[in-house]
Amino acid sequence: MSEERIVSARLLQEEENEIHLRPSKLNDYIGQEKVKESVSIFIQAAQNRKETLDHVLLSGPPGLGKTTLASIIANEVGKPIRKTSGPAIERPGDLAAILTNLEPGEILFIDEIHRLNRSVEEIMYPAMEDYAIDIIIGKGPAARTLRLDIPPFTLIGATTRPGLLSSPLRDRFGINCRLDFYNDEELALIIDRAAAILAIDIAREGAEEIARRARGTPRIANRLLRRVRDYAVVKASGKITYPVAQKALNMLEVDDSGLDFMDRTILEAIIVKFGGGPVGLETLAAAVSEESDTVTEVYEPYLLKLGFINKTPRGRIATPHAYKHLNIEMTKLPEGGLFGNDEP
Ligand SMILES: Nc1ncnc2c1ncn2[C@@H]1O[C@H](COP(=O)(O)OP(=O)(O)OP(=O)(O)O)[C@@H](O)[C@H]1O
Ligand SMILES: [Mg+2]
Repeated sequence: MSEERIVSARLLQEEENEIHLRPSKLNDYIGQEKVKESVSIFIQAAQNRKETLDHVLLSGPPGLGKTTLASIIANEVGKPIRKTSGPAIERPGDLAAILTNLEPGEILFIDEIHRLNRSVEEIMYPAMEDYAIDIIIGKGPAARTLRLDIPPFTLIGATTRPGLLSSPLRDRFGINCRLDFYNDEELALIIDRAAAILAIDIAREGAEEIARRARGTPRIANRLLRRVRDYAVVKASGKITYPVAQKALNMLEVDDSGLDFMDRTILEAIIVKFGGGPVGLETLAAAVSEESDTVTEVYEPYLLKLGFINKTPRGRIATPHAYKHLNIEMTKLPEGGLFGNDEP
């Protein structure tokens, strides 16, 4: 269900080839100033010492630019990048094969690194620490381990769920970057940039309106831009003005906070079905017919950021903002009071 959402931060099929919207230099990567600064310092320091860049962990909700940043880093250090993902590496041998075939200094990008299985992870520890892998040869009492050197490399791991990473793995990343939601100005710049690349005629106020409803997420901003462009072409002169953007977004049922039907369904379920909460994740997910992982990874981060829900040790609660947004009168204060409770 969520795959079809216009405001889903997840990658849609049609976007897989949209690499031309991806900035390729750090300077073109908009926002995330702190992350950019530290990345560029670490890159320069490694280059000055003629060393391989330390391993980098990029975490944050979907669509904020983790994959883009990984490619930029490879570009900036001038090394090739090999991309794979946690679930794609099934057996330790798969990872050993990848690692032994790297070029010196190459970047290995592993998306969804929290989904690496344990036996694969164990190959990774000495690889990250000592640029070596331990291979077991033979079986039973005759078995012995052989240490094999591999070329120095930089691992860039991306994850939407840093909390699910095992601590031995997390501790082996020297550089840890958390990407955060973008503000409206940054998103408007991202939209302007994409509009220029796609030759879309857009007014400043049009870009700002799309930015406001893009859930702080570049991928959604770019997608809304394309949908609004379609509307502008069919229903108006082709130019995205403020009123055109507004009408198009209303038609797409993206409200003025960037929430769509599913977000509102979740809020409504907490308020109406569960009396404002607290309600456990599994119960809530079942009530809205969605997978619990999708609820935590895709919907909740932005609802939390807007302050529409809070997580308490006993479950999710709707905040007064949520009641107000949905125009539902509050009959009782939610658990945790007006200011909620920020426990994970
Ligand atoms: N800082 C940025 N400046 C300009 N465009 C950006 C920026 N970050 C992301 N984008 C755009 O948003 C799109 C999504 O970014 P990207 O695929 O890197 O996200 P992601 O964090 O890897 O998502 P996922 O968790 O789904 O893998 C990119 O195609 C790119 O065009
Ligand atoms: Mg990605």
